[in-house]
Formats: sequence, structure tokens, C-alpha cells
Amino acid sequence: MSANVMSAAGPSQGAKAPSGGSAAHAVASVGAMPQTLLKVSDLHAWYGESHILHGVDFEIREGELVTLLGRNGAGRSTTLKAILGLVGKRSGSIQVGGVETVHMLTNKIARLGLGYCPEERGIFSTLSCEENLLLPPKVGEGGMSIDEIYSMFPNLKERRHSPGTRLSGGEQQMLAMARILRSGAKVLLLDEITEGLAPVIVQTLGRVIRALKAKGLTIILVEQNFRFAAPLADRHYVMEHGKIVAVVDKSELQDKTALLQEFLGV
Ligand SMILES: Nc1ncnc2c1ncn2[C@@H]1O[C@H](COP(=O)(O)OP(=O)(O)OP(=O)(O)O)[C@@H](O)[C@H]1O
Ligand SMILES: [Mg+2]
Repeated sequence: MSANVMSAAGPSQGAKAPSGGSAAHAVASVGAMPQTLLKVSDLHAWYGESHILHGVDFEIREGELVTLLGRNGAGRSTTLKAILGLVGKRSGSIQVGGVETVHMLTNKIARLGLGYCPEERGIFSTLSCEENLLLPPKVGEGGMSIDEIYSMFPNLKERRHSPGTRLSGGEQQMLAMARILRSGAKVLLLDEITEGLAPVIVQTLGRVIRALKAKGLTIILVEQNFRFAAPLADRHYVMEHGKIVAVVDKSELQDKTALLQEFLGV
């Protein structure tokens, strides 16, 4: 688990991707290209002797939401872990807000504003919901207050005294996300947040993601559930065998659906 803070800068001033689609987005982006917050170039990663990532390239600008899609074992989770320095060895370049991090340790990387929600969620069963929420250190300013978090996740407020073990899968997932929002992370790395959850919870998560994007947060979503991801994302990166093999902008989705289905095996 790691969740940390970047700076005192609050949510961005409505910065949007240049490919935002709507007229409002087009106007907002004239003359002020949002800053690239994360730029991954020729990233290789290993677990022990196993060479898993073979030159991953992608980037995300402030306020954008991109997905990493792919079949099981494509290397999506490893990409998130490699960004955070949680793999055995890595090479290439990972710039966070213009700072090279490929040789940094995880705690230092996280402090540049990355909030990681791992597949396994990492909720402590012996702590209450609220204790879990308060656990990660609050470093710097800009994180959401407990009140803001509870208004975004009313279930967590209701369940705040329940032990971690008593929370449903959906509540645990919301708690795992809420925890990194409180810490003040500006770039969220979310790994398969919809996995195994009931459709109604998936819908709630969709609303939460939209709200976070509207606040100006920058989000990388690792997903299997393309139907969930498609309406949320500015851009999709498809991975296969530890590489990005296709990039699909949201404006190209209709034309490239068949291609995506082929890559994803759906
Ligand atoms: N700790 C590890 N040690 C050795 N190999 C690993 C480890 N974790 C993952 N791998 C291998 O790395 C490859 C990529 O795994 P990764 O977890 O990144 O896939 P993924 O795209 O997230 O897919 P999924 O989540 O569906 O498994 C797979 O071949 C996997 O077996
Ligand atoms: Mg995975």
C-alpha cells in the first residue's frame, strides 16, 4: 500500500485533454496545453530473472483519464507496480511531473503525488473502516477532507465503525480509493477496481470516477471491463506481452471497436 501527496496545489483549474471532444474542452485547451504529469518511456521491468515489461511507452496529461487494457498476464499490473518501484528491477524512464523517478525508492516516488490502489486492496481487517481511512500519512496539502470523502462515499460513513472484515467487496474497494484521496494524491493508479463487484456497485464507481475527473485528478485505470472504461477514458492503451500494442483515442472508439475486441479477446 502506498498513497501520498504531491504539493499544495489543489485540484487543477479544470485542465482538460486536448482531445476532450466537447466544444468546452476545445476552448479550455486553447493556448494552455495541460502539463504532462507522467511520461513512461522504454520501460522494462523484471521480477527476479523474469523479464516482464519490454519497452512500455505512454503518457498522461493533467486531468486526463487513460486506461491500460489487455488480456490476463499482459503486464498491466506490472506497469503500475514498475511506476511505483514495486518490481525487482526496472530500466528506461518514468518522469513524474518532469522528475525522473526510475532510480528512486517507492516512498519518494509516492510523495510526487502518486496514489496506488492495488488489485488486492490492502484493507486491514482488524481496523475499523475509519481507522483504515485515516491510516496513510497525510503529506502536504490538497487531500480531500473526511467530510468530502463521506459525501462522495456515503456507505463508508454508515460503516465507519465496522471492522475491515465486515465490509463488502464494494465497500472495501471504495475504502481503498477513499484512502488515497485523503492523502492528497493527484495521479491515481487504479488496478481493476471493478473486478468481482455487482453491477450496481460498478455503476457507483463509475460516478465516483467521473466526479474525481471533474475535480481535475489524473487517472490511470487498469481494466478488464471495457464497457465500464470506455465512456470514462480520454484514451486507451492496449498491452500485450509487456508492451503497448495499440493506442485508441476516445474519438476513434467507434472505428476501432473491432480491433480492440480482437486485442482483448472479447
Ligand atoms: N511477482 C511475480 N513474479 C514473477 N512473475 C510475475 C509476478 N507477478 C506477475 N508475474 C508475471 O508477469 C506477467 C504480467 O503480469 P501482470 O500481473 O502484470 O498482468 P496483468 O496484465 O495485470 O493481468 P492480470 O491482472 O489479469 O493477471 C504474467 O506473465 C505474470 O505471470
Ligand atoms: Mg493485473
